[in-house]
Amino acid sequence: MEKKRILIVDDERNMCEALFDVLEQEGFSVSTALDKEEALRLIKNIEFDLLLLDIRLKGVDGLDLISAVKEINPGIAIIIMTGYPSLESAIEGTRLGISDYLLKPISIESLKASIQHALIQKDKEKQKEQLAKKLEESGRRLALLEETLAQATKLASLGKIGPAMFHEVKNILSIINVSAYYLKKNIEAKDPRVKKHLEIVEKEIEHAHRIIMGLLDLSRGHQEKLIPCEINQLLEETLSLLNHELELKGIKIVKDYGSEIPLIFLEPNELKQVFINLILNAQDAMPKGGELRITTYRENDFLLVKFSDTGCGIKKTDLEKIFTPFFTTKRESGGMGLGLAVSQELVGKYGGVMAVESEENKGATFIIKLPLNKSIESLREKIGKEK
Ligand SMILES: Nc1ncnc2c1ncn2[C@@H]1O[C@H](COP(=O)(O)OP(=O)(O)OP(=O)(O)O)[C@@H](O)[C@H]1O
Ligand SMILES: [Mg+2]
Repeated sequence: MEKKRILIVDDERNMCEALFDVLEQEGFSVSTALDKEEALRLIKNIEFDLLLLDIRLKGVDGLDLISAVKEINPGIAIIIMTGYPSLESAIEGTRLGISDYLLKPISIESLKASIQHALIQKDKEKQKEQLAKKLEESGRRLALLEETLAQATKLASLGKIGPAMFHEVKNILSIINVSAYYLKKNIEAKDPRVKKHLEIVEKEIEHAHRIIMGLLDLSRGHQEKLIPCEINQLLEETLSLLNHELELKGIKIVKDYGSEIPLIFLEPNELKQVFINLILNAQDAMPKGGELRITTYRENDFLLVKFSDTGCGIKKTDLEKIFTPFFTTKRESGGMGLGLAVSQELVGKYGGVMAVESEENKGATFIIKLPLNKSIESLREKIGKEK
């Protein structure tokens, strides 16, 4: 183990020499200084662990020297030696973070005990500081991740990001996870709030991981494969990606799912993209929270999915424009005006249609109407022809 470095500052040469020998023998690496200038020069060049200082140096206010030392090496432990104790200097010394106050003549035993204690304290302080830094870093990364995820959900819904990015985010998550584990193991359990927050971090990492896996699946995108899908199940899978954000924004989801809805042949990720676009639009329309009701039912040979929100609604003059690519009223907040255009195209691919009913300030309802394809072959043929 590396030797701890001690600087002795005393204007009595004999005192310096005596202490030098004793402390060297105790296994410390010791330097000495007889005046303020020499002391500061040494402090600037060597990272000492502890300063043993005679507070009454000739012509120098020892407390001023402590301030200067702390500025150069804030983590240094300081023990003051004095032959003339005063209450004022003791109080000021405590304010400056002095570890101990020893009265001359100094007993070697109490000096050794005092040094051990100060060094242990210093190590603890350092560890605490490192942990605090790590915690801050984890928090920063988590905030960044949250932002990335919100953006990613939107882009994934438009099929605009590939799996590489999700792997990247998964890596960040693993790093945060390891840091959180380390912090939890090492942090002193004096403050239960610290542990509680670390548990929150861990829980949220797990949560973000689940979202990432869902997005990864979504970003694999079009597999050109028609699978018999349960529409309610697809909605549930989509909501599991967005639930957390919806909850944060105070949006209540009311599920009015029909029972006995036949399976429908679809490429599931495509329909999930449509659902995400509609849910995100509803979320944008209700910045102060509200309710989104999702209804599914069968009507003759069609399957209907309705999204009704209690948001700002759509102006009459905008109603006919909203499916046009790049039409957006959210340019300032980063809207691209593509969500509905892409959704309409995807629904159209399965012979379905999308409709909207809305009045300004009275919410909006988007309806998806999909034909219940009786024969997979005819649908395959249809999709094949369109490509
Ligand atoms: N539920 C809704 N309530 C109110 N207005 C809506 C709703 N859904 C869509 N709109 C209007 O339709 C416009 C177009 O929506 P669309 O999803 O295509 O694009 P966007 O949401 O603006 O941007 P993005 O490309 O990010 O989805 C929106 O800007 C908004 O004005
Ligand atoms: Mg949108």
